[in-house]
Amino acid sequence: MTQRFGIGLLLGAGLLLGASVAPVQVQAQSGEAFEPLPLWAYAWSTQPEPGDLPVAQPWPSRDLREGDDPEDVAMPRRVEGSDAVYTRIDIRDAHDVIDWFPGDHPPMPDIIRRGPESLLSVRGWGCGSCHLPNGKGRPENAPPGGQPVEYTVRQLQDMATGQRFSADPRKPNSPTMSYLAAAMSEAEMREAAEYFAAMPWTPWIRVIEAELIPEMHLEEGNMYITVGEEPTEALAGRIVETPVDAFQANYLRNPRSSWIAYVPVGSLARGEELVTTGGGKTIECAICHGPDLMGLANMPGIAGRSPSYMMRQLYDMKVGTRNGLGVELMDQVIADLTVEDMTDIVAYLASLTPPPTTP
Ligand code: HEC
Ligand code: HEC
Repeated sequence: MTQRFGIGLLLGAGLLLGASVAPVQVQAQSGEAFEPLPLWAYAWSTQPEPGDLPVAQPWPSRDLREGDDPEDVAMPRRVEGSDAVYTRIDIRDAHDVIDWFPGDHPPMPDIIRRGPESLLSVRGWGCGSCHLPNGKGRPENAPPGGQPVEYTVRQLQDMATGQRFSADPRKPNSPTMSYLAAAMSEAEMREAAEYFAAMPWTPWIRVIEAELIPEMHLEEGNMYITVGEEPTEALAGRIVETPVDAFQANYLRNPRSSWIAYVPVGSLARGEELVTTGGGKTIECAICHGPDLMGLANMPGIAGRSPSYMMRQLYDMKVGTRNGLGVELMDQVIADLTVEDMTDIVAYLASLTPPPTTP
């Protein structure tokens, strides 16, 4: 498979701060246009336009930000079951990752807490800030917890060389991730991969089939936040993933606070058929991803993980922006799948409640 795209190393700080960057051209593997971006998976309300740039990310810092209420961000906060006390300034300091529940995971090495050593002087991002100290991640990033070491190292290499990036050029954290991967040493990649691999994967997403869902506020490029109480909004073929308690999950970054995914009615049965039999359109996933879909050798686990994340991966592979060496094995799997099939598949995968694994 030849490399179709490359952002090369356009991954300097300038890119992160929104400086100009060549627009990424996306085309289907066949050379024909694939379906438009499934907006729900990328958390946008509109399709990307040619020339769109990544949304700039605030550099990790403890400074006040625009719109901050100085008293509010300095207020000591607690979460249930933890002895720790953090302010909002601590919580968003991505260069010194907070840890509500140190007993839930192995001790965080520097790479997880503070980020790559090569970026210490500029206060880089610790991996735990986005992926959480327990490796469960959030819908807008990824769940590296419980994945095989060799798989994770390969992903970091692919992101560092530009063979893996988001099909949505606006996606805020995709260039940050590539920038971090490019700044990591081999030893740091391995150390981070071993840390995440040691984490047992336990379910934390409740999947609900629904026609109507509560009113949602879309934080563009990030996630859906539930604002309504009664189901009034049509799901209309989407999957909508939202924190059960946005204050806990989003504001306090409580890594034990769980998620709901609303999925289309009928998607679980259709997804099960495709995943377990191939349904004449694809290949049974268990052949490579393991009998329980929890991963096998250096193949990633796909059961019980964020459906938005998994949808982005299938779409990114289909249009070729995720194009590392390992992706060749997925080519046949996705060749004939539509966005609707992929939606059914990731709904079903997310609904699988895997047995807890031991580290
Ligand atoms: C600013 C947020 C952010 C930080 C910090 C961050 N990541 Fe990521 N990470 C992401 C995003 C976004 C993705 C890709 C999501 C996508 O493809 O849609 C990702 C994807 C990944 C994946 C792919 C997972 C998989 O299953 O294939 C790995 C592995 C990973 N990150 C490791 C790390 C490591 C190691 C660090 C620390 C050096 C780190 N990340 C720091 C945002 C972040
Ligand atoms: C022939 C082997 C093979 C089969 C069959 C297969 N996969 Fe994969 N899959 C892979 C490999 C290898 C990767 C990792 C690609 C990489 O290294 O980037 C992967 C990655 C993935 C990912 C991304 C995981 C992550 O954490 O980013 C998803 C989602 C996925 N597969 C879904 C499926 C589904 C759904 C099926 C069945 C319909 C399936 N796969 C069947 C080999 C396979």
